[in-house]
Amino acid sequence: MSDPLQLRVGAPAHGGHCVARDPDGRVVFVRHALPGELVRVRIIDDAGSFRRADAVEVLEPSPDRVAPPCPHAGPGRCGGCDWQHASGSAQRAMKAAVIREQLARLAGLDVPVTVEELPGGLLGWRTRIQYAIGRDGTVGLRRHRSHEVEPIDACPLGVAPVSEPPLVRPGLTGIEVACGDDREPALLGHSPGVGRQARGRRPPDRVELLAGPPRLRHTVAGRTFEVDAAGFWQVHPHAASTFAATLLELLGVRPGERVLDLYSGAGLFTALLAEAVGPSGEVVGVEASRAAVADATANLADLPQARTIRARVTPAVIDDADVVVLDPPRSGAGREIMAAILARSPRAIGYVACDPAALARDVHVAVDAGWRLAQLRAFDAFPMTHHVECVALLLPGVDQ
Ligand SMILES: C[S@@+](CC[C@H](N)C(=O)[O-])C[C@H]1O[C@@H](n2cnc3c(N)ncnc32)[C@H](O)[C@@H]1O
Repeated sequence: MSDPLQLRVGAPAHGGHCVARDPDGRVVFVRHALPGELVRVRIIDDAGSFRRADAVEVLEPSPDRVAPPCPHAGPGRCGGCDWQHASGSAQRAMKAAVIREQLARLAGLDVPVTVEELPGGLLGWRTRIQYAIGRDGTVGLRRHRSHEVEPIDACPLGVAPVSEPPLVRPGLTGIEVACGDDREPALLGHSPGVGRQARGRRPPDRVELLAGPPRLRHTVAGRTFEVDAAGFWQVHPHAASTFAATLLELLGVRPGERVLDLYSGAGLFTALLAEAVGPSGEVVGVEASRAAVADATANLADLPQARTIRARVTPAVIDDADVVVLDPPRSGAGREIMAAILARSPRAIGYVACDPAALARDVHVAVDAGWRLAQLRAFDAFPMTHHVECVALLLPGVDQ
Protein backbone atom coordinates (compact mmCIF):
# COMPACT_ATOMS: atom_id res chain seq x y z
CA MET A 1 0.00 0.00 0.00
CA SER A 2 2.93 2.35 0.75
CA ASP A 3 6.69 2.34 1.40
CA PRO A 4 8.02 0.45 4.43
CA LEU A 5 7.73 2.47 7.63
CA GLN A 6 10.09 2.01 10.58
CA LEU A 7 8.30 1.57 13.93
CA ARG A 8 9.16 0.75 17.54
CA VAL A 9 6.67 -1.89 18.66
CA GLY A 10 4.83 -1.71 21.99
CA ALA A 11 2.54 -3.96 24.01
CA PRO A 12 0.58 -6.92 22.60
CA ALA A 13 -3.09 -6.21 21.82
CA HIS A 14 -6.09 -8.52 21.60
CA GLY A 15 -6.14 -10.23 18.19
CA GLY A 16 -2.54 -11.40 17.70
CA HIS A 17 -0.66 -8.18 17.05
CA CYS A 18 1.29 -5.49 18.91
CA VAL A 19 0.55 -1.79 19.15
CA ALA A 20 2.83 0.82 17.63
CA ARG A 21 2.37 4.50 16.71
CA ASP A 22 3.16 5.97 13.32
CA PRO A 23 4.93 9.37 13.04
CA ASP A 24 1.48 11.07 13.10
CA GLY A 25 0.66 9.38 16.41
CA ARG A 26 -1.89 7.03 14.87
CA VAL A 27 -2.19 3.50 16.22
CA VAL A 28 -0.74 0.75 14.02
CA PHE A 29 -1.51 -2.89 14.88
CA VAL A 30 1.59 -4.78 13.78
CA ARG A 31 1.57 -8.52 13.09
CA HIS A 32 4.69 -10.69 13.09
CA ALA A 33 6.44 -8.39 15.55
CA LEU A 34 7.12 -8.59 19.31
CA PRO A 35 7.07 -5.97 22.08
CA GLY A 36 10.18 -3.80 22.09
CA GLU A 37 11.27 -4.62 18.55
CA LEU A 38 12.28 -2.08 15.93
CA VAL A 39 10.74 -3.22 12.65
CA ARG A 40 9.99 -2.12 9.10
CA VAL A 41 6.33 -2.61 8.34
CA ARG A 42 4.11 -2.86 5.31
CA ILE A 43 0.68 -1.29 5.84
CA ILE A 44 -1.98 -3.83 4.92
CA ASP A 45 -5.13 -1.96 5.88
CA ASP A 46 -6.04 1.63 6.70
CA ALA A 47 -9.19 1.91 8.83
CA GLY A 48 -8.89 5.69 9.31
CA SER A 49 -8.43 5.90 13.08
CA PHE A 50 -5.92 3.03 13.04
CA ARG A 51 -3.90 0.99 10.57
CA ARG A 52 -2.91 -2.65 10.30
CA ALA A 53 0.60 -3.68 9.26
CA ASP A 54 2.90 -6.64 8.81
CA ALA A 55 6.48 -6.51 10.09
CA VAL A 56 8.48 -7.36 6.96
CA GLU A 57 11.95 -6.69 8.39
CA VAL A 58 13.16 -6.91 12.00
CA LEU A 59 15.90 -4.36 12.69
CA GLU A 60 16.20 -4.97 16.44
CA PRO A 61 14.82 -8.41 17.41
CA SER A 62 13.35 -9.24 20.81
CA PRO A 63 15.18 -11.90 22.88
CA ASP A 64 11.82 -13.76 22.76
CA ARG A 65 11.96 -14.10 18.96
CA VAL A 66 12.40 -17.62 17.52
CA ALA A 67 12.45 -19.00 13.97
CA PRO A 68 8.85 -19.99 13.11
CA PRO A 69 8.71 -23.81 13.01
CA CYS A 70 6.03 -23.71 10.28
CA PRO A 71 7.21 -22.93 6.72
CA HIS A 72 3.79 -21.35 5.97
CA ALA A 73 4.02 -18.70 8.73
CA GLY A 74 5.00 -15.12 7.99
CA PRO A 75 3.78 -11.80 6.57
CA GLY A 76 1.08 -12.35 3.94
CA ARG A 77 1.12 -16.13 4.47
CA CYS A 78 -1.13 -18.49 6.49
CA GLY A 79 -3.46 -16.62 8.86
CA GLY A 80 -4.03 -19.56 11.21
CA CYS A 81 -1.22 -18.68 13.64
CA ASP A 82 -0.26 -15.34 15.15
CA TRP A 83 2.74 -16.11 17.35
CA GLN A 84 4.91 -18.67 15.51
CA HIS A 85 7.80 -16.22 15.88
CA ALA A 86 7.58 -16.10 19.71
CA SER A 87 8.88 -18.55 22.32
CA GLY A 88 6.21 -20.46 24.26
CA SER A 89 6.81 -18.50 27.46
CA ALA A 90 6.58 -15.20 25.52
CA GLN A 91 3.31 -16.33 23.93
CA ARG A 92 1.82 -17.07 27.35
CA ALA A 93 3.13 -13.79 28.80
CA MET A 94 1.52 -11.84 25.90
CA LYS A 95 -1.80 -13.64 26.36
CA ALA A 96 -1.68 -12.87 30.11
CA ALA A 97 -1.01 -9.19 29.33
CA VAL A 98 -3.98 -9.11 26.92
CA ILE A 99 -6.37 -10.69 29.47
CA ARG A 100 -5.18 -8.25 32.11
CA GLU A 101 -5.61 -5.30 29.75
CA GLN A 102 -9.13 -6.39 28.71
CA LEU A 103 -10.21 -6.77 32.35
CA ALA A 104 -8.78 -3.35 33.18
CA ARG A 105 -10.30 -1.58 30.18
CA LEU A 106 -13.69 -3.29 29.99
CA ALA A 107 -14.36 -4.33 33.61
CA GLY A 108 -12.32 -1.71 35.53
CA LEU A 109 -10.43 -4.48 37.39
CA ASP A 110 -6.72 -4.82 38.13
CA VAL A 111 -6.15 -8.59 38.19
CA PRO A 112 -2.80 -10.41 38.10
CA VAL A 113 -2.98 -13.09 35.38
CA THR A 114 -0.82 -16.12 34.63
CA VAL A 115 -1.49 -18.21 31.53
CA GLU A 116 -0.84 -21.87 32.29
CA GLU A 117 0.67 -24.30 29.78
CA LEU A 118 -1.20 -27.46 28.82
CA PRO A 119 0.82 -30.67 28.33
CA GLY A 120 2.10 -31.47 24.83
CA GLY A 121 4.02 -28.42 23.64
CA LEU A 122 3.33 -25.84 20.95
CA LEU A 123 2.76 -28.18 17.98
CA GLY A 124 0.71 -31.30 17.24
CA TRP A 125 -2.31 -30.41 19.43
CA ARG A 126 -5.22 -29.62 17.09
CA THR A 127 -7.73 -32.48 16.82
CA ARG A 128 -9.81 -30.56 14.25
CA ILE A 129 -8.70 -28.49 11.25
CA GLN A 130 -10.92 -26.94 8.59
CA TYR A 131 -8.98 -26.58 5.34
CA ALA A 132 -10.14 -24.02 2.78
CA ILE A 133 -10.52 -24.75 -0.92
CA GLY A 134 -9.87 -21.88 -3.31
CA ARG A 135 -11.83 -21.29 -6.54
CA ASP A 136 -8.93 -22.88 -8.47
CA GLY A 137 -9.03 -25.98 -6.25
CA THR A 138 -6.05 -24.97 -4.08
CA VAL A 139 -6.29 -26.60 -0.65
CA GLY A 140 -4.82 -24.87 2.35
CA LEU A 141 -5.60 -22.35 5.05
CA ARG A 142 -6.89 -18.80 4.69
CA ARG A 143 -4.46 -15.91 4.73
CA HIS A 144 -4.98 -13.36 7.50
CA ARG A 145 -8.25 -11.39 7.03
CA SER A 146 -8.52 -12.70 3.48
CA HIS A 147 -10.44 -15.15 1.33
CA GLU A 148 -7.18 -16.12 -0.38
CA VAL A 149 -5.93 -19.62 0.31
CA GLU A 150 -2.34 -20.29 1.36
CA PRO A 151 -1.51 -23.72 -0.12
CA ILE A 152 -0.61 -26.08 2.73
CA ASP A 153 0.89 -29.55 2.50
CA ALA A 154 0.80 -30.07 6.27
CA CYS A 155 -0.21 -28.00 9.31
CA PRO A 156 2.21 -28.67 12.19
CA LEU A 157 -0.46 -27.67 14.73
CA GLY A 158 -2.52 -30.77 13.89
CA VAL A 159 -2.29 -34.20 15.52
CA ALA A 160 -1.15 -36.81 13.00
CA PRO A 161 -4.43 -37.72 11.25
CA VAL A 162 -5.63 -34.14 10.81
CA SER A 163 -2.35 -32.38 10.00
CA GLU A 164 -2.45 -33.14 6.27
CA PRO A 165 -5.26 -31.85 4.05
CA PRO A 166 -7.24 -34.69 2.51
CA LEU A 167 -7.93 -35.08 -1.19
CA VAL A 168 -10.60 -32.66 -2.33
CA ARG A 169 -13.88 -33.56 -4.00
CA PRO A 170 -15.58 -31.31 -6.56
CA GLY A 171 -18.18 -28.83 -5.34
CA LEU A 172 -16.73 -28.32 -1.87
CA THR A 173 -15.58 -24.96 -0.48
CA GLY A 174 -13.90 -26.48 2.56
CA ILE A 175 -12.89 -29.78 4.04
CA GLU A 176 -12.58 -30.51 7.73
CA VAL A 177 -10.78 -33.34 9.49
CA ALA A 178 -11.48 -34.17 13.14
CA CYS A 179 -10.69 -37.01 15.49
CA GLY A 180 -11.46 -38.23 18.97
CA ASP A 181 -9.18 -39.95 21.50
CA ASP A 182 -8.64 -42.98 19.21
CA ARG A 183 -7.36 -40.61 16.46
CA GLU A 184 -9.57 -42.17 13.77
CA PRO A 185 -10.25 -39.25 11.42
CA ALA A 186 -13.72 -38.10 10.33
CA LEU A 187 -13.84 -36.19 7.05
CA LEU A 188 -16.45 -33.44 6.71
CA GLY A 189 -17.24 -31.64 3.46
CA HIS A 190 -18.31 -27.98 3.56
CA SER A 191 -20.43 -26.38 0.86
CA PRO A 192 -22.26 -23.04 0.83
CA GLY A 193 -25.38 -23.04 3.01
CA VAL A 194 -28.72 -21.88 1.70
CA GLY A 195 -30.80 -18.98 2.96
CA ARG A 196 -29.80 -15.56 4.16
CA GLN A 197 -28.27 -14.31 7.37
CA ALA A 198 -28.76 -10.97 9.10
CA ARG A 199 -26.45 -8.08 8.16
CA GLY A 200 -25.44 -9.64 4.85
CA ARG A 201 -23.45 -12.45 6.47
CA ARG A 202 -23.11 -15.77 4.68
CA PRO A 203 -25.38 -18.51 6.02
CA PRO A 204 -23.58 -21.31 7.89
CA ASP A 205 -21.98 -23.94 5.64
CA ARG A 206 -23.77 -27.16 4.82
CA VAL A 207 -21.61 -29.85 6.44
CA GLU A 208 -21.76 -33.52 5.47
CA LEU A 209 -19.80 -36.52 6.69
CA LEU A 210 -17.74 -37.87 3.77
CA ALA A 211 -15.80 -40.63 5.51
CA GLY A 212 -14.85 -41.92 8.94
CA PRO A 213 -16.80 -42.23 12.18
CA PRO A 214 -19.99 -40.13 12.46
CA ARG A 215 -19.39 -39.76 16.19
CA LEU A 216 -16.12 -39.07 17.99
CA ARG A 217 -15.29 -40.36 21.46
CA HIS A 218 -13.55 -38.38 24.18
CA THR A 219 -12.83 -39.57 27.71
CA VAL A 220 -12.69 -37.04 30.55
CA ALA A 221 -12.36 -37.92 34.24
CA GLY A 222 -13.15 -41.55 33.50
CA ARG A 223 -16.36 -40.77 31.52
CA THR A 224 -16.64 -41.30 27.78
CA PHE A 225 -18.52 -38.70 25.74
CA GLU A 226 -19.72 -39.35 22.20
CA VAL A 227 -20.02 -36.26 20.06
CA ASP A 228 -21.29 -35.73 16.51
CA ALA A 229 -18.23 -35.45 14.23
CA ALA A 230 -19.37 -31.93 13.23
CA GLY A 231 -20.27 -30.91 16.78
CA PHE A 232 -18.41 -28.80 19.31
CA TRP A 233 -15.64 -30.28 21.45
CA GLN A 234 -12.50 -28.56 22.69
CA VAL A 235 -9.78 -29.06 20.06
CA HIS A 236 -6.78 -29.40 22.38
CA PRO A 237 -6.62 -32.96 23.74
CA HIS A 238 -6.02 -31.69 27.31
CA ALA A 239 -8.47 -28.77 27.25
CA ALA A 240 -11.78 -30.42 28.18
CA SER A 241 -10.32 -32.27 31.19
CA THR A 242 -8.39 -29.20 32.38
CA PHE A 243 -11.35 -26.79 32.12
CA ALA A 244 -13.76 -29.26 33.76
CA ALA A 245 -11.39 -29.99 36.68
CA THR A 246 -10.71 -26.27 37.17
CA LEU A 247 -14.40 -25.39 37.11
CA LEU A 248 -15.28 -28.06 39.66
CA GLU A 249 -12.41 -27.04 41.92
CA LEU A 250 -13.33 -23.33 41.80
CA LEU A 251 -17.05 -23.92 42.37
CA GLY A 252 -16.78 -26.56 45.11
CA VAL A 253 -20.18 -27.94 44.09
CA ARG A 254 -21.89 -29.81 46.97
CA PRO A 255 -24.20 -32.83 47.07
CA GLY A 256 -27.84 -31.81 46.77
CA GLU A 257 -27.20 -28.52 44.94
CA ARG A 258 -29.09 -27.36 41.83
CA VAL A 259 -26.85 -26.24 38.96
CA LEU A 260 -27.66 -24.56 35.65
CA ASP A 261 -25.15 -25.31 32.88
CA LEU A 262 -25.71 -22.74 30.11
CA TYR A 263 -24.37 -23.33 26.56
CA SER A 264 -23.82 -26.93 27.63
CA GLY A 265 -22.83 -28.60 24.32
CA ALA A 266 -22.59 -32.39 24.43
CA GLY A 267 -22.83 -32.45 28.23
CA LEU A 268 -19.19 -32.29 29.36
CA PHE A 269 -19.71 -30.02 32.38
CA THR A 270 -23.32 -31.20 32.92
CA ALA A 271 -22.15 -34.78 33.54
CA LEU A 272 -19.27 -33.92 35.85
CA LEU A 273 -21.40 -31.44 37.79
CA ALA A 274 -24.12 -34.11 38.07
CA GLU A 275 -21.61 -36.50 39.62
CA ALA A 276 -20.67 -33.76 42.11
CA VAL A 277 -24.26 -32.89 43.16
CA GLY A 278 -25.13 -36.60 43.43
CA PRO A 279 -28.57 -38.20 43.21
CA SER A 280 -30.12 -35.65 45.59
CA GLY A 281 -29.06 -32.73 43.38
CA GLU A 282 -30.02 -31.57 39.90
CA VAL A 283 -28.14 -30.23 36.88
CA VAL A 284 -29.96 -28.68 33.93
CA GLY A 285 -28.05 -28.01 30.72
CA VAL A 286 -29.30 -25.46 28.18
CA GLU A 287 -28.09 -25.84 24.61
CA ALA A 288 -29.38 -24.57 21.24
CA SER A 289 -27.94 -27.18 18.85
CA ARG A 290 -30.25 -30.12 18.13
CA ALA A 291 -27.31 -32.49 17.50
CA ALA A 292 -25.52 -31.42 20.70
CA VAL A 293 -28.70 -31.95 22.76
CA ALA A 294 -29.09 -35.44 21.29
CA ASP A 295 -25.45 -36.19 22.17
CA ALA A 296 -25.85 -34.76 25.68
CA THR A 297 -29.02 -36.77 26.31
CA ALA A 298 -27.16 -39.98 25.40
CA ASN A 299 -24.05 -38.97 27.34
CA LEU A 300 -26.13 -38.28 30.48
CA ALA A 301 -28.28 -41.43 30.29
CA ASP A 302 -26.78 -42.93 33.47
CA LEU A 303 -27.29 -39.73 35.49
CA PRO A 304 -30.98 -39.25 36.35
CA GLN A 305 -30.16 -35.98 38.15
CA ALA A 306 -28.97 -34.43 34.83
CA ARG A 307 -30.88 -33.35 31.73
CA THR A 308 -30.44 -30.98 28.80
CA ILE A 309 -33.09 -28.58 27.52
CA ARG A 310 -32.96 -27.63 23.85
CA ALA A 311 -33.30 -23.84 23.86
CA ARG A 312 -31.44 -20.66 23.13
CA VAL A 313 -30.16 -19.10 26.34
CA THR A 314 -32.56 -16.24 27.12
CA PRO A 315 -33.66 -14.73 30.45
CA ALA A 316 -36.76 -16.97 30.26
CA VAL A 317 -34.72 -20.19 30.68
CA ILE A 318 -32.75 -18.94 33.68
CA ASP A 319 -34.41 -20.05 36.90
CA ASP A 320 -33.30 -20.49 40.50
CA ALA A 321 -30.04 -22.35 41.03
CA ASP A 322 -27.34 -22.62 43.68
CA VAL A 323 -24.65 -22.45 41.00
CA VAL A 324 -24.70 -21.23 37.39
CA VAL A 325 -22.07 -22.33 34.87
CA LEU A 326 -21.78 -20.65 31.50
CA ASP A 327 -19.52 -21.38 28.52
CA PRO A 328 -20.85 -19.08 25.80
CA PRO A 329 -19.57 -18.66 22.22
CA ARG A 330 -17.03 -15.91 21.45
CA SER A 331 -19.60 -13.11 21.66
CA GLY A 332 -20.12 -13.85 25.38
CA ALA A 333 -23.42 -13.98 27.25
CA GLY A 334 -24.23 -10.28 27.09
CA ARG A 335 -25.80 -7.85 29.53
CA GLU A 336 -29.34 -9.25 29.41
CA ILE A 337 -28.30 -12.84 30.17
CA MET A 338 -25.84 -11.79 32.87
CA ALA A 339 -28.51 -9.62 34.53
CA ALA A 340 -30.97 -12.54 34.48
CA ILE A 341 -28.40 -14.86 36.12
CA LEU A 342 -27.49 -12.28 38.78
CA ALA A 343 -31.19 -11.63 39.52
CA ARG A 344 -31.51 -15.29 40.61
CA SER A 345 -28.79 -14.78 43.27
CA PRO A 346 -26.91 -18.07 42.89
CA ARG A 347 -24.17 -18.67 45.48
CA ALA A 348 -21.54 -18.80 42.71
CA ILE A 349 -21.09 -18.41 38.93
CA GLY A 350 -18.48 -20.35 36.95
CA TYR A 351 -17.64 -18.71 33.63
CA VAL A 352 -15.60 -20.50 30.92
CA ALA A 353 -14.54 -17.99 28.28
CA CYS A 354 -12.80 -18.31 24.92
CA ASP A 355 -12.64 -14.53 24.45
CA PRO A 356 -11.18 -12.35 27.22
CA ALA A 357 -12.95 -9.24 25.87
CA ALA A 358 -16.38 -10.89 26.10
CA LEU A 359 -15.48 -12.22 29.56
CA ALA A 360 -14.44 -8.73 30.70
CA ARG A 361 -17.70 -7.17 29.40
CA ASP A 362 -19.79 -9.81 31.20
CA VAL A 363 -17.72 -9.55 34.40
CA HIS A 364 -18.32 -5.80 34.30
CA VAL A 365 -22.09 -6.43 34.50
CA ALA A 366 -21.53 -8.63 37.56
CA VAL A 367 -19.19 -6.13 39.24
CA ASP A 368 -21.74 -3.34 38.68
CA ALA A 369 -24.32 -5.52 40.43
CA GLY A 370 -22.08 -5.91 43.52
CA TRP A 371 -20.34 -9.17 42.56
CA ARG A 372 -16.61 -9.84 42.44
CA LEU A 373 -14.19 -11.77 40.25
CA ALA A 374 -12.99 -14.08 43.05
CA GLN A 375 -10.63 -16.25 40.97
CA LEU A 376 -9.33 -16.38 37.44
CA ARG A 377 -7.36 -19.19 35.79
CA ALA A 378 -6.16 -18.95 32.19
CA PHE A 379 -4.85 -21.71 29.92
CA ASP A 380 -2.89 -21.77 26.69
CA ALA A 381 -5.24 -24.21 24.96
CA PHE A 382 -4.40 -22.74 21.52
CA PRO A 383 -0.58 -22.41 21.28
CA MET A 384 0.84 -20.35 18.38
CA THR A 385 -2.46 -18.45 18.03
CA HIS A 386 -3.69 -15.44 20.01
CA HIS A 387 -6.56 -17.48 21.44
CA VAL A 388 -6.66 -18.26 25.16
CA GLU A 389 -9.23 -19.78 27.51
CA CYS A 390 -10.22 -18.40 30.92
CA VAL A 391 -12.10 -20.07 33.75
CA ALA A 392 -13.48 -17.52 36.21
CA LEU A 393 -15.27 -17.72 39.55
CA LEU A 394 -17.74 -14.92 40.32
CA LEU A 395 -19.06 -14.55 43.87
CA PRO A 396 -21.60 -12.15 45.34
CA GLY A 397 -20.39 -9.25 47.47
CA VAL A 398 -17.06 -7.52 47.84
CA ASP A 399 -13.91 -9.24 49.06
CA GLN A 400 -13.67 -9.51 52.90
C1 LIG B 1 -18.07 -23.05 23.70
S1 LIG B 1 -19.30 -24.28 23.39
C2 LIG B 1 -19.36 -25.03 24.98
C3 LIG B 1 -19.89 -26.43 25.06
C4 LIG B 1 -19.60 -27.22 26.32
N1 LIG B 1 -19.67 -26.43 27.52
C5 LIG B 1 -18.25 -27.91 26.22
O1 LIG B 1 -17.31 -27.50 26.92
O2 LIG B 1 -18.10 -28.87 25.45
C6 LIG B 1 -20.72 -23.29 23.29
C7 LIG B 1 -22.01 -24.03 23.04
O3 LIG B 1 -23.08 -23.07 23.07
C8 LIG B 1 -24.02 -23.40 22.07
N2 LIG B 1 -24.73 -22.13 21.79
C9 LIG B 1 -24.31 -21.07 21.06
N3 LIG B 1 -25.19 -20.05 21.15
C10 LIG B 1 -26.19 -20.48 21.96
C11 LIG B 1 -27.36 -19.88 22.47
N4 LIG B 1 -27.69 -18.61 22.14
N5 LIG B 1 -28.15 -20.58 23.30
C12 LIG B 1 -27.81 -21.85 23.64
N6 LIG B 1 -26.70 -22.48 23.21
C13 LIG B 1 -25.89 -21.80 22.39
C14 LIG B 1 -23.22 -23.99 20.94
O4 LIG B 1 -24.03 -24.86 20.15
C15 LIG B 1 -22.12 -24.75 21.70
O5 LIG B 1 -22.51 -26.08 21.94
